[in-house]
Amino acid sequence: MTKKWWHDKVAYQIYPKSFCDSNGDGIGDIPGIISRLDYLQDLGVDIIWLSPCYPSPLADQGYDISDYYNIDPRFGTMEDMEKLIAEAKKRNMYILMDLVVNHCSDEHEWFRKACEDPEGRYGNYFYLRDKKEDKLPTNWRSYFGGPVWEDLPGTDKQYLHVFHKKQPDLNWENPELREEVYKNINWWLDKGLAGFRIDAIINIKKALPFRDYEPDRKDGLCSIHAMLKEAKGIGAFLGEMRDRTFRQYDAFSVGEVFNEKPEEIPAFIGDNGYFSTMFDFNEAIFGQSEKGWYDAKPVTPEDYKNCCFEAQAKVSDIGFLSNIIENHDEPRGVSRYIPEGDLCPESKKMLAALYFLLRGIPFIYQGQELGMENMHFSSIEEIDDISTLDEYQVALDAGLTPEEALKAVAGHSRDNARTPMQWSDAPHAGFTTGTPWLAANPNYTSINVAAQQSDPDSVLHFYRELIRLRKNPAYKETIVYGSLEPAFRAQHNLMAYYRKGDKTLLVIGNYQKEEQSLTLPLPYKKVLLNNYADIVTDDGRILLHGYQVLVLEM
Ligand code: GLC
Ligand code: CA
Repeated sequence: MTKKWWHDKVAYQIYPKSFCDSNGDGIGDIPGIISRLDYLQDLGVDIIWLSPCYPSPLADQGYDISDYYNIDPRFGTMEDMEKLIAEAKKRNMYILMDLVVNHCSDEHEWFRKACEDPEGRYGNYFYLRDKKEDKLPTNWRSYFGGPVWEDLPGTDKQYLHVFHKKQPDLNWENPELREEVYKNINWWLDKGLAGFRIDAIINIKKALPFRDYEPDRKDGLCSIHAMLKEAKGIGAFLGEMRDRTFRQYDAFSVGEVFNEKPEEIPAFIGDNGYFSTMFDFNEAIFGQSEKGWYDAKPVTPEDYKNCCFEAQAKVSDIGFLSNIIENHDEPRGVSRYIPEGDLCPESKKMLAALYFLLRGIPFIYQGQELGMENMHFSSIEEIDDISTLDEYQVALDAGLTPEEALKAVAGHSRDNARTPMQWSDAPHAGFTTGTPWLAANPNYTSINVAAQQSDPDSVLHFYRELIRLRKNPAYKETIVYGSLEPAFRAQHNLMAYYRKGDKTLLVIGNYQKEEQSLTLPLPYKKVLLNNYADIVTDDGRILLHGYQVLVLEM
């Protein structure tokens, strides 16, 4: 495998709207991010991915872009963005932006021109079909609910949107559209951007000609996945994009890829793959139901362990996964993967070490390093996320009472991750001096950066140690390139694995509040990390405390 500059890096995701507000309007912004670069550098972060900050009507929080060449005034100016790139560079840090090109906003100039003249040049930038009174062009259900077809204003046509109706899909079959995308990517890379996180990319290839699939709910519609499963040939688009853009700049690209088949992994992330890496969503999608969030299964410690090991085995040394426990589309990882009632600094640190030391590139989502938790929503009115509002309706339609429906969807809501970053115990978590666009989690009075910075036993300090360990010259080669072998696999609620390179490390997590013991095959040489002050041994056995995690050099 060819070594690349990004392999040994640690990445951090910023959701700009909720990170740091510099001017008191309640919305996080780029000057706010610049003011926190030292914090991120001190943590040990190298690569920063910004969720979209382009001009947008914010129908889907910026994932609906109306101008690919600008910054939304709510987030700052182009000068701010240039300054951010320069300030990051001074600190040996890299900035990634979000590349959202499966769709644009219905307020993008291309779409407006398509409405004016659907038969003209811009009509072919989208998927348009003649409107028939009695039937939609296809029976696909959009990711955010309802049919994927909407009337094209002022015309007798309809357009396709697999996400929200304010996010019309771009027609990748049209070479002119593809050229526009490549031009935009290179324009940003010329500005000094290090690369992109690539949004919803698996949707750019549609199965043509369009047809109906078997309905899977009472609404008579079918999941988009039915169509995507049949779509062949995405590789031609992705390979072209890589060759025309990223490869020319040695840029980093991380794909939001779902449902790839094992045989496709080398093409996606192998040497000369379409992307530098892609996220491991195996844990995130576990327990999902065709019926909706209300029917999803919880993730047990055994499920979590199996999902991680399955993903690791699938990719092996073909390439690099990007490992996460949460992002802006998911609930907080600690709330999802630690059983309710067991949330505490020890369990949060255990989860941190278990995922962070997997083979791959670790991504930390803002606030994860503090152990930020899900919000307790007491009413659907408190939720802004369009996806949650849709799933709430799906739950009501399935017969749940409003209370049951809220309870069923709240734990999955994307807003859990979108509450303001908790900087201090000042009002609104120190995120803004004004009124935040989304209320802060009331637990900010105890979970916040300021408090954890001065506490050497905090979750924040533990993350810092994890990053230091990954960067320690003595262990780096093993942690970055070493193989991963599951250990003690049959032992219930224990997740353990070896990392083997020029050194051998053993990571052991007791994934339960009860103690448990294990017998090592050999004595260990050194304890590299421990979330407790002690290790209890007894005649060759280690007696693990509840949620104890150890990193041992063997
Ligand atoms: C991705 C984004 C998500 C967005 C969707 C549509 O999944 O992460 O936030 O809603 O794409 O752009
Ligand atoms: Ca602001």
